[in-house]
Amino acid sequence: PVYPRASSYPDFARLVDRDKAQVDRRVFVDKAIYQAELQQIFARAWLFLAHESQIPNPGDFLRTSMGEDDVIVVRQRDKTVKAFLNSCPHRGNRVCMVDAGTRARGFICNYHGWSFGIDGALRGTDGKVYETDETFEKAQIGLTPVAQIDSYKGLIFATFDPQAPSLEDFFGPFTWYLDIMLDNDEGGTEFVGGAIRSIIDCNWKFPAENFVGDILHAFWTHQSGAQAILGGAVDLGKRYDELAFQASVYGHGIESNLDKVGNTRTLGYPELVDYVFDLSEKARDRLGDIRARAIGAISSCTVFPNFSFLPGQNTFRVWHPRGPGKIELVAWTLVNKNAPEHIKELYRKGTMMTFSPGGVFEMDDGENWEYATRVNEGFVTRHQPLHYALGLGTEDAASEMPGHVHRGSLNDANQRLFYTRWAEFMKYDNWTDLQNGETAPPVRRAQAAE
Ligand code: FES
Ligand code: FE
Repeated sequence: PVYPRASSYPDFARLVDRDKAQVDRRVFVDKAIYQAELQQIFARAWLFLAHESQIPNPGDFLRTSMGEDDVIVVRQRDKTVKAFLNSCPHRGNRVCMVDAGTRARGFICNYHGWSFGIDGALRGTDGKVYETDETFEKAQIGLTPVAQIDSYKGLIFATFDPQAPSLEDFFGPFTWYLDIMLDNDEGGTEFVGGAIRSIIDCNWKFPAENFVGDILHAFWTHQSGAQAILGGAVDLGKRYDELAFQASVYGHGIESNLDKVGNTRTLGYPELVDYVFDLSEKARDRLGDIRARAIGAISSCTVFPNFSFLPGQNTFRVWHPRGPGKIELVAWTLVNKNAPEHIKELYRKGTMMTFSPGGVFEMDDGENWEYATRVNEGFVTRHQPLHYALGLGTEDAASEMPGHVHRGSLNDANQRLFYTRWAEFMKYDNWTDLQNGETAPPVRRAQAAE
C-alpha cells in the first residue's frame, strides 16, 4: 500500500507561540490547516481503535475512523487483530456499512459484489467477468491495511505511518499514568454496553485540550449539572495542594488533585463512590500512593491527539475530526473485569446520565466548545490570539513522576504542551525530530542534546 508522506508546515507551527503562551485562533477554523492536520497528525500518530473486549472472537469486527479515514477492525482466526480502510479498491465504496458485528466470514461490497476475507484479501469478484480476464491479478488487490497495529493493556491502537515508532515509544513514560486506569486491578478492564455516538459542531482540539488539563471550567461550566446531581458545585478539592499536578509527555496529558473527592461522585451513585474509594485503597500495592489516589480524585486525561478519559468517572472517548468545525464523538464506559455486575451497570447508567448526548455534563461542555469554535469564523475575531498563560513557571523539575510535571491542577501547562506537540507535528516531517522536541520527556531531551 501507498501511505502519504509527511511534509513540513513551519508557518502553521508558528501559530503556537510558546514564549507568549498564545494560540492563534485560525488553528480552529482554517481549512488548509485542517487538511495539514489530517496529513501531519492523523496519518502519522497512533490512534485509538477499540478495546480488545469489544471483539473477543474471530470474525468480530467494528467500524471506526482514523482521522476522516473510515476503518474496519477485525479479530483474525489466529486471535490477532487487523485493521483496514473501509473502502473497496474497485470504485471506493464502503465495504462494511454497519457499526459492528460478530463472527463475520468476510465483507462484500454493495456496488459490484467484490468480496473480501476478514484478513482483507480479495476473495471473489462477480463470478465470470474477472475470472476469465488473464490480466486480472486478484492476489495483488485487497483492502488497504493500516501500517502498524498494537495494543496496550487492552486498548488497540494503529497508525498509517510505517516509520512511526512503536506504540510504547509513542506513549513514552506516559504509560505510568495510563496504568492508573488500565492496570489498577489484576483482572484487567473491559468496555460495557455499546458506544454512544454524537455530533458536536466544534473543532476537535477544544475537547482534547479540555480533557488534557482544563479542570478550571468544571466548577463554573458544570455548576448547574452538579446542582442537579450533587446538590452543589463540583468539589475540586485541593487544587493548589502540593500534590495537585499536571503531567505531560509528548503532548499526552493528565491532571489530578489527588484529593479524595472523586469524579465518581458526579455519577450520582453513593455505592459507586464506596467502590472507587475501596479500589483506590486496594490499588496502593499495585500502583503506589500517588497513582492509587488519582483514581479516587478529580482527574482527567488526553492521549494525543484525540483520545480522552476521566479516571473514576470511567468515560473513554474519541473526538473524531469531521472538518474544522465538527466532530463525531464516540464514547464508551470502561470497567474492571472483576467488578461486580451491579457496579458495572451503575457505571453504564452513570455515564449515560452525565457524559452522553443527553447527559448533563456533555451538554454543558458541548455548547461552550461550539461557540468557542464558531465565533472564530469572524475575520477579525480569528486574528486575535487566545490566552494560555495560567501557571507559567510552575514546572517541577525535581518531581519524581515522569514527564513534564507542573504544580497545581489549575494550570494551562498541559494545554501549552498539547499545542506545542501539535506544532511539532506541523513542523517536522520525521520521527527523530518529533521524538526529541520540547514535549519529549526531560530525560530523553537531555540525552538527545548530548
Ligand atoms: Fe466495490 Fe465495485 S466498488 S465492487
Ligand atoms: Fe467538562
